[in-house]
Amino acid sequence: MTTTNHQSTTTLYSVFQEESSHFHQGYWAEDMQEDRLDIAHVRYLQELTKTLSIKTGDIVLDLGCGGGAGAIWLAKTFGCHVHAIDLVADNVLRARKSVQNANLENLIEVHQMDAVNMSFASDFFDHVIAVESIYHIQDKQSVFKEIQRVLKPNCYLAIADYLLESCSCLVRQLAAVFFESKYMTGINEHYQMFKDAGLQVVSELDVTEETIIRTFDWGKRTNYSLLRTMLREAYGPIVYHLTSFVFSLPIITLPRKLAADKTVKMEFITCVNSN
Ligand SMILES: C[S@@+](CC[C@H](N)C(=O)[O-])C[C@H]1O[C@@H](n2cnc3c(N)ncnc32)[C@H](O)[C@@H]1O
Repeated sequence: MTTTNHQSTTTLYSVFQEESSHFHQGYWAEDMQEDRLDIAHVRYLQELTKTLSIKTGDIVLDLGCGGGAGAIWLAKTFGCHVHAIDLVADNVLRARKSVQNANLENLIEVHQMDAVNMSFASDFFDHVIAVESIYHIQDKQSVFKEIQRVLKPNCYLAIADYLLESCSCLVRQLAAVFFESKYMTGINEHYQMFKDAGLQVVSELDVTEETIIRTFDWGKRTNYSLLRTMLREAYGPIVYHLTSFVFSLPIITLPRKLAADKTVKMEFITCVNSN
């Protein structure tokens, strides 16, 4: 059994987006409106899957599907078949409900399954995507080996992951708290594990600015300021100024600084199954 951070929804995302079933960052390109997280969520998936040529009828694995938003977007956009897996029962139920509501049960199957030990046949998938899920898992090497096993030869994996670029123990602990995983690793460790699993990196994109930083900025402008305004109305200006410190420091300012310093990065990585 793997060691994983078990969460039904992550606080990191519920702070910003109570109603959404996307448990991932937004992606803001230069030309995009600043206030639309829903559009930024879709843009994120578009940017991540750019390196895969997904076609109607292809079979895609969504590894760590959360509330199912990614699987639904994949099926609607490409007409592909999606197997969405998640370890956490609540997420599986939520994803199944979203799939039902979207009327996509003919294209999407949701399974409660551990990515470390998947029950799919070898050489089953045409593509694998993993959106901000692998950084939650301790035994990444086994996950990459499993991905290599279930992915057809010469087919592609697209992964969006948080990477930690610091050796300092204190920074590691801070990052673990703010990004809700104590299993984040650095890019070099990832590269070695890809290589050992027979996955060859074909592209690597640092999207920290477009994703983590811009999403925290969005959170600060919208929900966070709304919350503070409500408190000011209810309790007056002293509470308003107090909350500026109390809320912004732990929820936004510190994790944003870790990203701005590139201590914590977000990367879009594409690998081919070269075995
Ligand atoms: C940050 S959420 C991302 C969810 C989804 N990919 C999305 O973008 O909306 C990470 C997800 O990975 C799942 N996860 C963590 N460890 C896992 C494991 N060992 N096997 C399968 N899923 C796992 C968590 O339950 C959680 O739903």
